Amino acid sequence: MSDDAVKEFEEGLAKVEASFRSQLDACGDEQSLRAVNARIAGPTGELTGLLKLMPKLPGDQRKVLGQKANALKSAVSAAFDTQLLAIAKAVRDAELSGPHLDVTLPGRNERTGSLHPITRVAYEIMDVFTSLGFDIVDGPEIDLHENNFDKLGFPPDHPATDMQDSFFINAEAGQKQRSLLRTHTSTMQVREMQKRKPPLAIVAPGQVYRRDDDVTHSPMFFQLEGLLVDEGVSFAHLKGVLTRFAQRMFGDNVPVRFRPSYFPFVEPGGEVDIGCMICRGYEGTKEALARQAECRVCKASGYLEVLGCGMVHPVVFENVGYDSDKYTGFAFGLGIDRIAMLRYGISDIRWLYENDVRFLSQI
Ligand code: PHE
Repeated sequence: MSDDAVKEFEEGLAKVEASFRSQLDACGDEQSLRAVNARIAGPTGELTGLLKLMPKLPGDQRKVLGQKANALKSAVSAAFDTQLLAIAKAVRDAELSGPHLDVTLPGRNERTGSLHPITRVAYEIMDVFTSLGFDIVDGPEIDLHENNFDKLGFPPDHPATDMQDSFFINAEAGQKQRSLLRTHTSTMQVREMQKRKPPLAIVAPGQVYRRDDDVTHSPMFFQLEGLLVDEGVSFAHLKGVLTRFAQRMFGDNVPVRFRPSYFPFVEPGGEVDIGCMICRGYEGTKEALARQAECRVCKASGYLEVLGCGMVHPVVFENVGYDSDKYTGFAFGLGIDRIAMLRYGISDIRWLYENDVRFLSQI
């Protein structure tokens, strides 16, 4: 039995001895060298397997055979180190004599983020109004039917609630009225008036939702509501504030047009259009008029509607508990996206929501 073990051991050593050097020397790269080395001297390697047989060897031969095995192990390890160095040197030589590495190529810059154009324009608009003394307030995007319609004087089931094609949220059990994604920031008129007493002047920016989708409409867009209430507020104040706003945003010469319009919560009500900056048809030259005739944004009208406005309807004051004989006020709701389009000459509102950095970085 032990003679067999001696024989097996000796043959094993002879086999490793005969081949390890040529096996290691044949390796051309570090990875294969390490793999071959592991096959010989790794934890499950040939040589390691032999060393595990040692306890089976007869005592008188164990020492000599053990020394032989250890010497072989050292020889394998030395051959491995030599070949590893040779490979490293070959790699280095190849680098030095190979094609030149151009370390002067510019690196890849990290791109810094920036504010979205809508946010930038919203900040600018808020700057204008805070400098005129308005406070900035914020409110929820999901609101009660009451705040979005009823208290603003929309009669129940009035077609105007269709006009704003709303996204309703299913009423929960026991809830008397439905909630919806607010269709305008005018909810903030109701909320702020119920919270404060006049005089007050607020602007409320935020997202609003309607079922709309074309080059100038998106189902989600941004508005900024304005409301000023005090004694003796007149339409002249409204016109003055909004004209100043347009001039601050677009320059003193921007064409601004007030048109009468209808909203249930104001009387009289109006809309403000600003000269279309996409075609700049208002320049009036032959070329400008030709551009205007083709303009999809202002639909060849030369103007783009940017806001609705008017004098707060007495019914709204009554609904929020204000004395409508004592107080008057004006309100407006402007489309921040529209202002951004005009400001940056963007011809399709949907670009603003696609998060395409190629577009955003041009602005
Ligand atoms: N809420 C109206 C809209 O969304 C705009 C508006 C606000 C009109 C305030 C008058 C007064 O179109």
